[in-house]
Amino acid sequence: MSELWVEKYQPRKLREIVGQSKAIQDITSWAEGWKKGKPTKPAILLYGAAGTGKSVAAAALAHEFGWDLIEMNASDKRTLSEIKRVAGAAASAGTLFAGAGGRRLIVLDEADTIHGTADRGGYRALKELLEETRNPLVLIANDQYAIPWDLRMVCVLVNFRRLTVDIAIKELQRICRAEGITAEPLALKVIAETAKGDLRSAINDLQTFTLGKKRLTVKDLVLYRRDREVNVFDFLKQLLSVSSAKDARTLLWALDLPPNDALAWIDENIPRMVTDPTDLANVYDAISRADIFLGRARRGQAYGLWGYASDLMSAGVATSRGEHLKWSKFRPPSHIRRFARTRANRAVRDAVARKVAKRCHTSARVARKDILPCLGVVFKHDKKTAAAITSQLEFTDAESSFLKAMG
Ligand SMILES: Nc1ncnc2c1ncn2[C@@H]1O[C@H](COP(=O)(O)OP(=O)(O)OP(=O)(O)O)[C@@H](O)[C@H]1O
Ligand SMILES: [Mg+2]
Repeated sequence: MSELWVEKYQPRKLREIVGQSKAIQDITSWAEGWKKGKPTKPAILLYGAAGTGKSVAAAALAHEFGWDLIEMNASDKRTLSEIKRVAGAAASAGTLFAGAGGRRLIVLDEADTIHGTADRGGYRALKELLEETRNPLVLIANDQYAIPWDLRMVCVLVNFRRLTVDIAIKELQRICRAEGITAEPLALKVIAETAKGDLRSAINDLQTFTLGKKRLTVKDLVLYRRDREVNVFDFLKQLLSVSSAKDARTLLWALDLPPNDALAWIDENIPRMVTDPTDLANVYDAISRADIFLGRARRGQAYGLWGYASDLMSAGVATSRGEHLKWSKFRPPSHIRRFARTRANRAVRDAVARKVAKRCHTSARVARKDILPCLGVVFKHDKKTAAAITSQLEFTDAESSFLKAMG
């Protein structure tokens, strides 16, 4: 991913911040107040849900008023001990080094995390700072009540509301236009609704689901909503680390996802992370057998088959994935499910090709294209030679039946 859209399309000006007109108004009049000298409430507390524009508003404010921006993160322990020193120095420094507007805007993001990380010295320092300061201070927090009341008393309180679905859709449309993406209206609605007022996550999701494409349809999102609720990512992560079959089964039970969907997620993600070829073949084997049982269960052949399928996709996968994993980002299954069986076959084919290539001192590609077809004929028609080759090359059962099926 070259550039994050949340950064690319981040509002630089206060008026570009959408859906927060009341908040922007309050921020502006507080900042105007600073033009006339230190107001009774020298600080402003921007609070509200994630991804609603708080940090962006603070940066835009400094920019618009020509103030130097001094950003600090409260959760950083070093910052804590330095709040007084850094912010205090900045606050009392004259206009010599200050921005064109003559002031510096001190922004303390994640101010609600001060509590618990410090011996409350952080808040005390802040309060003292507010008494001395000659510069405006912005506190940012998700929960206003995580800030001690006596500190809140000296702040203008500004709430950032969760963005409505309509507003989020508009933003998504704007980005789609800019990126040359055509999106089904319903698809944007699904993304906007799922984000629950968090524009950052809506935009991130849009970028994720349109990765490498110029079209977005509802179909691309079929499995998406559910995954939000059950947190399938956690499930996958744990499936890669549990050591017992029983734990793996419990994990799957806890994941409230229809078996087909669970399998699609497993199929999409787990094999990519398995490095050992034998492990990989086993993982594919478990997945493809789960797929087969699920198919039978769907056709109503026996209820117990769901159970087998679940065992295979949880315990089966967990116990065969091996130890050597290559971590990469989880991604949602593509909506056209690539069939595990086809890919399992491909894994077997590649394993055969590798063995043959080694023996014949050639590349796996040549082996696959030129030699495997001949071997297929041999395996189909000449049992004795086939057996000899099998033992020479140490083909597994799966591999020799693959060759036989080829011929
Ligand atoms: N009201 C908004 N108008 C326009 N873009 C927004 C708005 N809110 C969020 N965004 C988008 O989401 C990104 C993140 O916003 P921002 O960092 O301001 O969120 P925040 O409220 O500070 O969230 P957090 O509480 O997680 O820090 C922005 O870069 C921007 O792309
Ligand atoms: Mg923020």
